[in-house]
Amino acid sequence: MNNKLLIIGASGHGKVVADIALRMKKWQTIAFLDDDHSIKSSMGLEVIGTSNDASSYLNECDFFVGVGNNETRQRIHESLNKAGANIPVLIHPHAIIGSQVDIGGGTVVMAGVIINCCTKISKGCIINTGATIDHDNYIREYVHISPGVNLAGSVVVGGKSWIGIGSSISNNVNITSECQVGAGSVVVKDITEPGVYVGVPVRRI
Ligand SMILES: CC(C)(COP(=O)(O)OP(=O)(O)OC[C@H]1O[C@@H](n2cnc3c(N)ncnc32)[C@H](O)[C@@H]1OP(=O)(O)O)[C@@H](O)C(=O)NCCC(=O)NCCS
Repeated sequence: MNNKLLIIGASGHGKVVADIALRMKKWQTIAFLDDDHSIKSSMGLEVIGTSNDASSYLNECDFFVGVGNNETRQRIHESLNKAGANIPVLIHPHAIIGSQVDIGGGTVVMAGVIINCCTKISKGCIINTGATIDHDNYIREYVHISPGVNLAGSVVVGGKSWIGIGSSISNNVNITSECQVGAGSVVVKDITEPGVYVGVPVRRI
């Protein structure tokens, strides 16, 4: 671990990530990299370059990708990983994490989240504000669980899927990779084909 943290992405999601990192009090210095040259600072923290500058900070900084889009987050995370960057897990002090929960690097767990025991969350995920993830879930890499989502026990969410705000997923349901579940939807059966699903219960659109 380094005493400096560089967050890639200084927009909305990056700001929440920075807020959590500040509250964790683990880094002496926190700054951003952002490809929009017009952004000079965010959250009172300096933007010190673009994502192309990351390699020059590898030896002195930890890195975190504060980008909401799952594909983009994966691309940047994987190139940092390949370059040997240290990518921590960020957990808001007001999240509740049960026993035997395993969380991969580059995942952020936001305020008010509850993750119950024996759940595995892979790398590069967003577990957004106030979501609940019950026991024995398996959240695969680069998933976004939006604010206020409720996942019952033994749910599996496939890589790069995005579960929309306020959705609910019943116990033992498997959702395949690259699915988008719309805001306020309810999933009661497995989703086996990638696609966009909305409604109560969900239908594919
Ligand atoms: C599901 C979603 C991705 C679809 O977006 P889209 O592809 O642009 O789809 P459209 O807005 O064109 O809607 C297509 C149809 O689906 C319906 N629909 C869209 N989202 C819906 C939802 N969440 N629940 C029920 N119906 C929905 C629309 O009413 C429309 O129906 P119509 O054809 O009868 O008019 C989007 O509506 C959504 O719910 N996004 C989640 C946002 C979110 O969770 N944000 C959190 C950020 S942290």
